[in-house]
Amino acid sequence: MIHSEQLRTKILPIAGGKGGVGKSVTAASLGILLGSYGKRTVLVDLDLGGSNLHTYLGRKNNKIGIGNYLASKDIKMDDILQTTEHENLRFIAGDVLVEGSANISYGQKRGLISALSKLDVDFILLDLGSGTHQNVIDFFLASNSGIIVSTPQAPAILNSYAFLKNAVFRHVHRSAGSNRKVSEYLKKLHAETTANSTPPMTEIVSRIKKLGKNIGTDVEDFLQAFKPHLILNMARSHQDLSIARSLRDLSRKNLDVELACLGAVYYEPEINQAVMEQRPFITGAASCTAGMQLDRLAQKLVHSPEFPHMPLDLEIYEDSFELAGIELESDGDPEATSETADLKPEELLEVMAAQKQEIQELRQTIHNLTVGGMR
Ligand SMILES: Nc1ncnc2c1ncn2[C@@H]1O[C@H](COP(=O)(O)OP(=O)(O)OP(=O)(O)O)[C@@H](O)[C@H]1O
Ligand SMILES: [Mg+2]
Repeated sequence: MIHSEQLRTKILPIAGGKGGVGKSVTAASLGILLGSYGKRTVLVDLDLGGSNLHTYLGRKNNKIGIGNYLASKDIKMDDILQTTEHENLRFIAGDVLVEGSANISYGQKRGLISALSKLDVDFILLDLGSGTHQNVIDFFLASNSGIIVSTPQAPAILNSYAFLKNAVFRHVHRSAGSNRKVSEYLKKLHAETTANSTPPMTEIVSRIKKLGKNIGTDVEDFLQAFKPHLILNMARSHQDLSIARSLRDLSRKNLDVELACLGAVYYEPEINQAVMEQRPFITGAASCTAGMQLDRLAQKLVHSPEFPHMPLDLEIYEDSFELAGIELESDGDPEATSETADLKPEELLEVMAAQKQEIQELRQTIHNLTVGGMR
């Protein structure tokens, strides 16, 4: 697992247990925005078997991509890197032209990540598929700074939890390797427990430590380093953040994983419209609240040079979830903003100006905290 903190090139896998929660929209939007902030960014379609990220960028699917790279030794990373019309953004297509890459080996996955991490860029965003297929988990575990996208609906939150749980157990199994005692314990654990009766990870780790000290320590190190971040997408009210907090609490209690929150994005019909028309939602300055919220997510990444460590967690805010809650509330619930429909044009302008001021202040706060955190 790559630890992103000290690296210039940050690899951000974007996953989420559930399908259709907005992983690809988020990946494409963040890619365009990070590029617009001068960050050299590569957007990679790693939804093997379901590649469609090109449509979110308004691109045709006629260039070679990951499928070709995996199928032929003669194809190099440079051959599949496409320049885009967006500043500082390059794109690597998935496996639509060459199928069959859904069954790639662990070694191939590692080779691919290693080749990507050698690119001289600032951000590499990996758009992953839904579910808990081993490929998705392995690509998510490629770096400690993965992003989980979830909607506030209970099934999506539960899938996100299941995804994190699968990721942790995948690492535990890999660490156990050929150690017979640990493997037997894990097998027994698997046979005896149901989805809701797994002992807490701290208990599992202390048992593993007794059976194989190095393995237990390796798992502990992994849990320390693993810092996934949540993006709550398609929120409809600032209260939606409470279910996200439950996900954080559950992950902390059962998995010993500290989930942070990068922020939230409101449900926005214009996003749907852009997807239907196969064009990027974000192209320039944000023209709606969701656009501004995506922009804020990108700014948080830009202003956190040691991401996944986010300096804005410090001091004023108790944690990143609290900050996300404050942001969401200050953005105004979509339902509440519909009240502005009754306002006169000049009153509406005043409301918009006030919101712009708040956004500016928030940006300044994030910037100041970052500068403070870097000292
Ligand atoms: N904030 C949002 N507001 C409204 N609609 C959204 C928002 N985010 C995503 N959508 C819509 O949700 C649908 C699914 O989005 P997207 O394809 O990005 O999800 P996904 O998680 O990548 O799906 P898959 O699991 O199939 O890869 C799209 O039609 C998109 O328009
Ligand atoms: Mg997708």
